[in-house]
Amino acid sequence: MAKKYRVAVVGATGMVGQTMVEILTEREFPMEELKLLASARSRGLRVTAGDREYLVEEALPHSFEGIDFAFFSAGGAVSKELAREAARRGAVVIDNSSAFRMEEDVPLVIPEVNPEAVREHRGIIANPNCSTIQTVVALQPLQQAAGLKRVVAATYQAISGAGKKAVDELMEQCRAHLAGEKGTVQHIAHQLAFSLIPHIDIFLDDGYTNEEEKMVRETRKIMALPGLPVTATTVRAPVVNGHSIVLNVELQAPLTADEARALFAKAPGVTVLDNPAEKLYPMPLQVSGHDEVYIGRIREDHSVAHGLNLWVVADNIRKGAALNSVQIAELLL
Ligand SMILES: NC(=O)c1ccc[n+]([C@@H]2O[C@H](COP(=O)([O-])OP(=O)(O)OC[C@H]3O[C@@H](n4cnc5c(N)ncnc54)[C@H](OP(=O)(O)O)[C@@H]3O)[C@@H](O)[C@H]2O)c1
Repeated sequence: MAKKYRVAVVGATGMVGQTMVEILTEREFPMEELKLLASARSRGLRVTAGDREYLVEEALPHSFEGIDFAFFSAGGAVSKELAREAARRGAVVIDNSSAFRMEEDVPLVIPEVNPEAVREHRGIIANPNCSTIQTVVALQPLQQAAGLKRVVAATYQAISGAGKKAVDELMEQCRAHLAGEKGTVQHIAHQLAFSLIPHIDIFLDDGYTNEEEKMVRETRKIMALPGLPVTATTVRAPVVNGHSIVLNVELQAPLTADEARALFAKAPGVTVLDNPAEKLYPMPLQVSGHDEVYIGRIREDHSVAHGLNLWVVADNIRKGAALNSVQIAELLL
């Protein structure tokens, strides 16, 4: 009989954790046991997944005794406190936070791009930042065909990337704005409803945000291109789910838009949606709930040698977090 594993999801009541449980069930991950962990606030809560009901437990060091795979999606502080405890007890940790991503002995993995890196893990494997994942899935075929010279990214990120409370706040801001009232600003930096906020995560000394810096550092690490010139501007958009990214890419060698389209059509985890005559291009509302990274608006950039412009959209909770984590675990089966 095929081996089955004991699995724990930390942050199982959150946006990423709930989707993780759904995806583990959907993809029939071989589980002998599924343990749902969250904060003490959620202890005793009942959660249904597939045709089973689970009781949520508080995440504590001893929760990981006997666990084979521990998926963490409860934020960096919880990962820093408990991920090593889980690894010490023999679990392979797949961590969604940024706590360990840049550590040398922690592989940072996108299964379509650097699956071989999982072999180097010492108990913890990091799942990259959501915007980085869809960016790198799109960049990899270009790197392989023509070599990357420079990447400029501009994001339009959904509020689901900021967690459940932020999603609820955007909804309340929309209602308040339409009623002519002032909405709540607590989990989001400003009113996002009917606006844009060019600020995700904290500001660093050089004026970039940490989200922008993550895209630069993580792209270089995953692609093993430590000197690749990459720059990013990350913006929160009033979209519930699905990140959209404009990528301006300079290549080492010529590649036409048609050639790029053909490359993407064969690339793993990518769907091309690019027919302007039919008004076909990816949009977050349509892409939300899907697993692939969608690429459209593929154009040659005539302002530089060997330049391309792309519009890249993906479900940030699925491919940007939960799905990518489950795919990492599947590589280890
Ligand atoms: N959303 C994305 O697009 C995305 C993408 C990549 C990575 N991530 C990362 O994934 C993590 C979770 O994101 P999310 O969007 O799912 O957030 P969320 O909806 O706010 O959920 C947070 C989860 O963490 C749990 N939690 C909070 N404090 C805890 C504690 N002390 N001990 C155990 N569990 C605790 C919460 O449990 P309670 O319900 O009990 O409070 C809840 O299950 C974050 O690190 C985020 O940066 C998110």
